[in-house]
Amino acid sequence: MARFHALQVTDIRRDTRDAVVVTLKPEAADKDAFDFIQGQYLTFRRDFDGEELRRSYSICAGKDDGCLKVGIKRVEGGAFSTWANEELKIGDRLDVMPPMGRFFTELEPEKVKSYLGFAGGSGITPILSIIKTVLAREPKSTFTLIYANRQTSSIMFREELEDLKNTYLGRFSVIHILETETQDIDLFTGRIDAEKMDLLFRLWVDAEEVDTAFICGPEPMMLTIADSLRKHGLSDEQIRFELFASSQPGRAKARTMSQAAAAGAGTCEVSVTLDGSTRNFQMEKNSTSVLEAAIANSMDAPFSCKAGVCSTCRAKVIEGEVEMEVNHALEDYEVRAGYVLSCQCIPVSDKVVISYDE
Ligand code: FES
Repeated sequence: MARFHALQVTDIRRDTRDAVVVTLKPEAADKDAFDFIQGQYLTFRRDFDGEELRRSYSICAGKDDGCLKVGIKRVEGGAFSTWANEELKIGDRLDVMPPMGRFFTELEPEKVKSYLGFAGGSGITPILSIIKTVLAREPKSTFTLIYANRQTSSIMFREELEDLKNTYLGRFSVIHILETETQDIDLFTGRIDAEKMDLLFRLWVDAEEVDTAFICGPEPMMLTIADSLRKHGLSDEQIRFELFASSQPGRAKARTMSQAAAAGAGTCEVSVTLDGSTRNFQMEKNSTSVLEAAIANSMDAPFSCKAGVCSTCRAKVIEGEVEMEVNHALEDYEVRAGYVLSCQCIPVSDKVVISYDE
Protein backbone atom coordinates (compact mmCIF):
# COMPACT_ATOMS: atom_id res chain seq x y z
CA MET A 1 0.00 0.00 0.00
CA ALA A 2 1.37 3.41 -0.94
CA ARG A 3 2.33 5.34 2.18
CA PHE A 4 2.20 8.69 0.39
CA HIS A 5 -0.75 9.85 -1.72
CA ALA A 6 -0.86 12.74 -4.18
CA LEU A 7 -3.27 15.44 -2.96
CA GLN A 8 -4.30 18.42 -5.02
CA VAL A 9 -4.00 21.94 -3.64
CA THR A 10 -7.44 23.49 -4.13
CA ASP A 11 -6.98 26.73 -2.20
CA ILE A 12 -4.22 28.82 -0.63
CA ARG A 13 -5.16 31.63 1.70
CA ARG A 14 -2.68 33.99 3.29
CA ASP A 15 -3.49 34.15 6.97
CA THR A 16 -0.72 36.36 8.34
CA ARG A 17 2.37 37.82 6.69
CA ASP A 18 4.22 34.58 7.51
CA ALA A 19 1.56 31.91 7.30
CA VAL A 20 -0.67 30.32 4.69
CA VAL A 21 -3.65 28.01 5.01
CA VAL A 22 -3.54 25.31 2.34
CA THR A 23 -6.63 23.30 1.38
CA LEU A 24 -5.99 19.83 -0.04
CA LYS A 25 -8.19 17.38 -1.89
CA PRO A 26 -7.49 13.64 -1.99
CA GLU A 27 -8.47 11.49 -4.97
CA ALA A 28 -11.89 9.87 -4.56
CA ALA A 29 -10.23 6.50 -3.89
CA ASP A 30 -8.14 8.02 -1.04
CA LYS A 31 -11.00 9.87 0.66
CA ASP A 32 -11.38 7.38 3.54
CA ALA A 33 -7.62 7.32 4.17
CA PHE A 34 -7.75 11.08 4.81
CA ASP A 35 -10.76 11.02 7.14
CA PHE A 36 -8.95 12.68 10.04
CA ILE A 37 -9.57 13.02 13.77
CA GLN A 38 -9.50 16.55 15.19
CA GLY A 39 -5.97 17.50 16.30
CA GLN A 40 -4.13 15.16 13.90
CA TYR A 41 -1.37 16.16 11.48
CA LEU A 42 -0.29 15.40 7.92
CA THR A 43 3.25 14.54 6.83
CA PHE A 44 4.46 16.02 3.54
CA ARG A 45 7.35 14.92 1.34
CA ARG A 46 9.17 16.96 -1.28
CA ASP A 47 12.56 16.98 -2.98
CA PHE A 48 14.69 20.10 -2.57
CA ASP A 49 17.81 20.03 -4.77
CA GLY A 50 17.83 16.26 -4.80
CA GLU A 51 17.33 15.89 -1.05
CA GLU A 52 14.04 14.57 0.25
CA LEU A 53 12.51 16.64 3.04
CA ARG A 54 9.58 15.54 5.17
CA ARG A 55 7.61 17.92 7.32
CA SER A 56 4.48 17.54 9.44
CA TYR A 57 1.78 20.20 9.69
CA SER A 58 -1.33 20.03 11.82
CA ILE A 59 -4.79 19.98 10.33
CA CYS A 60 -6.64 23.17 11.21
CA ALA A 61 -10.06 22.14 9.86
CA GLY A 62 -12.81 20.85 12.11
CA LYS A 63 -14.46 17.49 11.45
CA ASP A 64 -17.52 19.26 10.03
CA ASP A 65 -15.71 21.73 7.77
CA GLY A 66 -15.95 19.27 4.88
CA CYS A 67 -12.36 19.84 3.80
CA LEU A 68 -8.77 19.12 4.67
CA LYS A 69 -6.68 22.17 5.55
CA VAL A 70 -3.29 22.75 7.16
CA GLY A 71 -1.72 25.95 8.43
CA ILE A 72 1.92 26.44 7.41
CA LYS A 73 3.89 29.15 9.15
CA ARG A 74 7.20 30.15 7.62
CA VAL A 75 10.09 29.13 9.85
CA GLU A 76 13.34 31.09 9.60
CA GLY A 77 15.56 29.06 7.23
CA GLY A 78 12.89 26.38 6.78
CA ALA A 79 12.99 25.09 3.18
CA PHE A 80 9.53 23.52 3.11
CA SER A 81 7.65 26.24 4.95
CA THR A 82 9.32 29.00 2.88
CA TRP A 83 8.49 27.17 -0.36
CA ALA A 84 4.88 26.64 0.77
CA ASN A 85 4.54 30.33 1.64
CA GLU A 86 6.19 31.66 -1.51
CA GLU A 87 5.90 29.18 -4.37
CA LEU A 88 3.12 26.70 -3.79
CA LYS A 89 0.20 27.25 -6.21
CA ILE A 90 -3.40 26.16 -6.49
CA GLY A 91 -3.51 23.06 -8.70
CA ASP A 92 -0.13 21.73 -7.47
CA ARG A 93 -0.02 18.18 -6.19
CA LEU A 94 1.69 17.28 -2.93
CA ASP A 95 2.83 13.92 -1.57
CA VAL A 96 1.05 13.47 1.74
CA MET A 97 0.78 10.66 4.30
CA PRO A 98 -2.64 9.94 5.80
CA PRO A 99 -3.46 11.75 9.08
CA MET A 100 -1.60 10.65 12.21
CA GLY A 101 -1.29 11.70 15.84
CA ARG A 102 -3.13 11.25 19.11
CA PHE A 103 -3.59 14.88 20.21
CA PHE A 104 -7.29 14.52 20.96
CA THR A 105 -9.76 13.11 23.44
CA GLU A 106 -12.83 11.10 22.60
CA LEU A 107 -15.92 13.11 21.74
CA GLU A 108 -18.86 12.56 24.09
CA PRO A 109 -21.87 14.45 22.73
CA GLU A 110 -24.01 13.88 25.84
CA LYS A 111 -21.45 15.14 28.35
CA VAL A 112 -20.97 18.65 29.72
CA LYS A 113 -17.22 19.21 29.58
CA SER A 114 -14.97 22.18 30.12
CA TYR A 115 -11.88 22.37 27.93
CA LEU A 116 -8.91 24.67 28.26
CA GLY A 117 -6.51 25.24 25.35
CA PHE A 118 -3.08 26.89 25.38
CA ALA A 119 -1.54 27.73 22.03
CA GLY A 120 1.69 29.54 21.17
CA GLY A 121 2.04 30.94 17.63
CA SER A 122 1.35 28.30 14.98
CA GLY A 123 0.57 25.86 17.80
CA ILE A 124 -2.98 27.08 17.28
CA THR A 125 -3.49 24.82 14.21
CA PRO A 126 -4.36 21.49 15.92
CA ILE A 127 -6.13 23.31 18.75
CA LEU A 128 -8.36 25.14 16.25
CA SER A 129 -9.35 21.78 14.78
CA ILE A 130 -10.21 20.53 18.28
CA ILE A 131 -12.12 23.71 19.22
CA LYS A 132 -14.29 23.62 16.08
CA THR A 133 -15.02 19.91 16.42
CA VAL A 134 -15.77 19.96 20.14
CA LEU A 135 -18.07 22.98 19.90
CA ALA A 136 -19.99 21.41 17.00
CA ARG A 137 -20.18 17.85 18.30
CA GLU A 138 -20.41 18.31 22.07
CA PRO A 139 -23.22 20.89 22.25
CA LYS A 140 -23.09 21.25 26.05
CA SER A 141 -19.31 21.64 26.37
CA THR A 142 -17.34 24.88 26.69
CA PHE A 143 -13.85 25.83 25.53
CA THR A 144 -11.51 28.56 26.80
CA LEU A 145 -8.49 29.33 24.63
CA ILE A 146 -5.41 31.17 25.89
CA TYR A 147 -3.41 32.13 22.84
CA ALA A 148 0.12 33.59 23.03
CA ASN A 149 1.67 35.62 20.21
CA ARG A 150 4.22 38.37 19.75
CA GLN A 151 1.73 40.92 18.48
CA THR A 152 -1.73 41.24 16.93
CA SER A 153 -0.42 40.93 13.37
CA SER A 154 1.08 37.51 14.09
CA ILE A 155 -2.17 36.00 15.43
CA MET A 156 -3.12 33.15 13.10
CA PHE A 157 -6.85 32.55 12.41
CA ARG A 158 -7.77 35.80 14.17
CA GLU A 159 -11.00 36.35 12.24
CA GLU A 160 -12.00 32.71 12.41
CA LEU A 161 -11.61 32.75 16.19
CA GLU A 162 -13.78 35.88 16.40
CA ASP A 163 -16.42 34.21 14.23
CA LEU A 164 -16.39 31.17 16.50
CA LYS A 165 -16.93 33.42 19.51
CA ASN A 166 -20.02 34.86 17.85
CA THR A 167 -21.33 31.49 16.67
CA TYR A 168 -20.86 29.85 20.06
CA LEU A 169 -21.72 32.72 22.38
CA GLY A 170 -21.18 31.71 25.99
CA ARG A 171 -19.46 28.45 25.05
CA PHE A 172 -16.20 29.71 23.56
CA SER A 173 -13.89 32.40 24.86
CA VAL A 174 -10.40 33.56 23.86
CA ILE A 175 -7.75 35.34 25.87
CA HIS A 176 -4.96 36.76 23.72
CA ILE A 177 -1.59 37.16 25.46
CA LEU A 178 0.64 39.47 23.41
CA GLU A 179 4.33 39.60 24.14
CA THR A 180 5.16 43.03 22.73
CA GLU A 181 1.85 44.89 22.68
CA THR A 182 0.31 46.64 25.62
CA GLN A 183 -3.29 45.69 26.28
CA ASP A 184 -5.94 47.18 28.57
CA ILE A 185 -5.40 44.41 31.07
CA ASP A 186 -1.75 44.10 32.19
CA LEU A 187 -2.06 40.37 32.68
CA PHE A 188 -2.57 39.90 28.92
CA THR A 189 0.77 41.50 28.00
CA GLY A 190 4.14 39.71 28.06
CA ARG A 191 5.15 36.05 28.05
CA ILE A 192 3.31 33.23 29.73
CA ASP A 193 5.27 32.42 32.88
CA ALA A 194 4.43 30.79 36.21
CA GLU A 195 3.30 34.08 37.74
CA LYS A 196 0.97 34.85 34.84
CA MET A 197 -0.46 31.34 35.03
CA ASP A 198 -1.20 31.81 38.76
CA LEU A 199 -3.00 35.07 38.02
CA LEU A 200 -4.94 33.54 35.15
CA PHE A 201 -6.17 30.80 37.45
CA ARG A 202 -6.96 33.24 40.20
CA LEU A 203 -8.82 35.77 38.07
CA TRP A 204 -10.05 34.18 34.82
CA VAL A 205 -10.13 30.39 34.75
CA ASP A 206 -11.49 28.04 37.40
CA ALA A 207 -9.01 25.15 37.31
CA GLU A 208 -11.37 22.90 39.28
CA GLU A 209 -13.88 23.04 36.44
CA VAL A 210 -11.43 21.95 33.73
CA ASP A 211 -11.83 18.41 32.37
CA THR A 212 -9.03 18.46 29.78
CA ALA A 213 -6.29 20.93 28.86
CA PHE A 214 -4.65 20.90 25.43
CA ILE A 215 -1.25 22.58 25.02
CA CYS A 216 0.56 23.18 21.73
CA GLY A 217 3.52 25.51 21.31
CA PRO A 218 7.24 25.81 21.93
CA GLU A 219 8.58 23.40 24.53
CA PRO A 220 9.56 25.87 27.31
CA MET A 221 6.09 27.42 27.22
CA MET A 222 4.47 23.98 27.31
CA LEU A 223 6.50 22.90 30.34
CA THR A 224 5.65 26.08 32.26
CA ILE A 225 1.95 25.65 31.52
CA ALA A 226 1.92 21.94 32.35
CA ASP A 227 3.67 22.59 35.70
CA SER A 228 1.12 25.22 36.55
CA LEU A 229 -1.81 23.02 35.54
CA ARG A 230 -0.51 20.26 37.82
CA LYS A 231 -0.01 22.75 40.62
CA HIS A 232 -3.64 23.80 40.21
CA GLY A 233 -4.91 20.26 40.55
CA LEU A 234 -4.98 18.74 37.05
CA SER A 235 -3.67 15.20 36.66
CA ASP A 236 -1.27 14.11 33.90
CA GLU A 237 -4.16 12.30 32.19
CA GLN A 238 -6.02 15.62 31.89
CA ILE A 239 -3.10 17.39 30.18
CA ARG A 240 -2.50 16.71 26.47
CA PHE A 241 0.63 17.98 24.67
CA GLU A 242 1.69 18.54 21.08
CA LEU A 243 4.99 20.18 20.18
CA PHE A 244 4.53 22.37 17.14
CA ALA A 245 6.21 21.89 13.81
CA SER A 246 8.97 24.48 14.03
CA SER A 247 10.28 22.77 17.16
CA GLN A 248 11.32 19.93 14.90
CA PRO A 249 15.03 20.24 14.16
CA GLY A 250 14.62 17.95 11.16
CA ARG A 251 17.23 15.40 11.97
CA ALA A 252 18.23 13.28 14.91
CA LYS A 253 20.84 14.77 17.19
CA ALA A 254 24.30 13.23 17.31
CA ARG A 255 24.30 10.19 19.52
CA THR A 256 26.41 9.72 22.59
CA MET A 257 26.83 6.14 23.59
CA SER A 258 24.99 5.42 26.83
CA GLN A 259 26.56 3.17 29.46
CA ALA A 260 24.00 0.47 28.79
CA ALA A 261 24.66 0.57 25.07
CA ALA A 262 28.43 0.66 25.52
CA ALA A 263 28.32 -2.33 27.85
CA GLY A 264 26.45 -4.40 25.31
CA ALA A 265 28.15 -3.21 22.12
CA GLY A 266 28.11 -5.70 19.25
CA THR A 267 25.57 -6.73 16.68
CA CYS A 268 21.85 -7.19 17.11
CA GLU A 269 19.52 -9.45 15.14
CA VAL A 270 16.61 -7.20 14.18
CA SER A 271 13.24 -8.29 12.87
CA VAL A 272 10.94 -5.55 11.57
CA THR A 273 7.32 -6.00 10.48
CA LEU A 274 5.80 -3.36 8.22
CA ASP A 275 2.58 -3.53 6.20
CA GLY A 276 2.26 -7.25 6.93
CA SER A 277 5.71 -8.36 5.80
CA THR A 278 8.72 -9.03 8.01
CA ARG A 279 12.38 -8.47 7.23
CA ASN A 280 15.35 -9.67 9.27
CA PHE A 281 18.73 -7.97 9.32
CA GLN A 282 21.70 -7.30 11.56
CA MET A 283 22.74 -3.91 12.88
CA GLU A 284 25.35 -2.50 15.24
CA LYS A 285 23.89 -2.05 18.69
CA ASN A 286 25.06 1.50 19.30
CA SER A 287 25.29 3.02 15.85
CA THR A 288 22.13 4.17 14.11
CA SER A 289 18.46 4.08 15.05
CA VAL A 290 16.24 1.14 14.22
CA LEU A 291 14.44 3.42 11.74
CA GLU A 292 17.66 4.25 9.86
CA ALA A 293 18.61 0.57 9.81
CA ALA A 294 15.18 -0.40 8.45
CA ILE A 295 15.45 2.25 5.71
CA ALA A 296 19.00 1.11 4.89
CA ASN A 297 17.53 -2.37 4.44
CA SER A 298 15.10 -1.04 1.81
CA MET A 299 12.06 -0.88 4.06
CA ASP A 300 9.65 2.02 3.49
CA ALA A 301 9.41 2.74 7.23
CA PRO A 302 7.37 5.84 8.09
CA PHE A 303 9.06 8.98 9.44
CA SER A 304 8.93 12.73 9.34
CA CYS A 305 10.93 14.74 11.91
CA LYS A 306 13.53 12.12 12.94
CA ALA A 307 13.78 14.10 16.16
CA GLY A 308 11.39 12.36 18.52
CA VAL A 309 8.68 14.98 18.09
CA CYS A 310 6.03 13.86 15.63
CA SER A 311 5.47 10.12 16.35
CA THR A 312 5.14 9.23 12.65
CA CYS A 313 7.78 6.53 13.23
CA ARG A 314 5.90 4.91 16.15
CA ALA A 315 6.39 1.15 16.41
CA LYS A 316 5.97 -1.54 19.03
CA VAL A 317 8.77 -3.60 20.54
CA ILE A 318 7.52 -7.18 20.60
CA GLU A 319 10.74 -8.74 21.87
CA GLY A 320 14.08 -7.47 23.14
CA GLU A 321 15.18 -4.15 24.53
CA VAL A 322 15.87 -0.77 22.96
CA GLU A 323 16.91 2.54 24.41
CA MET A 324 14.92 5.60 23.36
CA GLU A 325 16.99 8.77 23.39
CA VAL A 326 14.35 11.47 22.94
CA ASN A 327 10.61 11.25 23.39
CA HIS A 328 8.46 14.32 22.94
CA ALA A 329 5.58 12.42 21.40
CA LEU A 330 4.57 9.26 23.24
CA GLU A 331 2.50 9.24 26.40
CA ASP A 332 3.74 7.26 29.42
CA TYR A 333 1.05 4.61 28.96
CA GLU A 334 2.21 4.02 25.37
CA VAL A 335 5.82 3.57 26.48
CA ARG A 336 4.66 1.17 29.19
CA ALA A 337 2.79 -0.79 26.51
CA GLY A 338 6.03 -1.17 24.53
CA TYR A 339 5.62 1.58 21.92
CA VAL A 340 8.74 3.45 20.83
CA LEU A 341 9.79 6.18 18.45
CA SER A 342 11.86 4.11 16.05
CA CYS A 343 13.86 7.17 14.93
CA GLN A 344 15.12 7.49 18.49
CA CYS A 345 15.82 3.94 19.54
CA ILE A 346 18.97 1.94 19.43
CA PRO A 347 19.02 -1.79 20.26
CA VAL A 348 20.43 -2.82 23.61
CA SER A 349 19.72 -6.58 23.54
CA ASP A 350 21.11 -9.15 21.10
CA LYS A 351 17.73 -9.59 19.44
CA VAL A 352 14.97 -7.06 18.83
CA VAL A 353 11.58 -7.68 17.21
CA ILE A 354 9.68 -4.56 16.19
CA SER A 355 6.38 -4.03 14.43
CA TYR A 356 4.98 -0.93 12.75
CA ASP A 357 1.64 -2.67 12.31
CA GLU A 358 0.50 -2.88 15.96
FE1 FES B 1 9.16 12.04 14.15
FE2 FES B 1 10.37 9.72 14.83
S1 FES B 1 10.09 10.57 12.84
S2 FES B 1 9.30 11.09 16.11
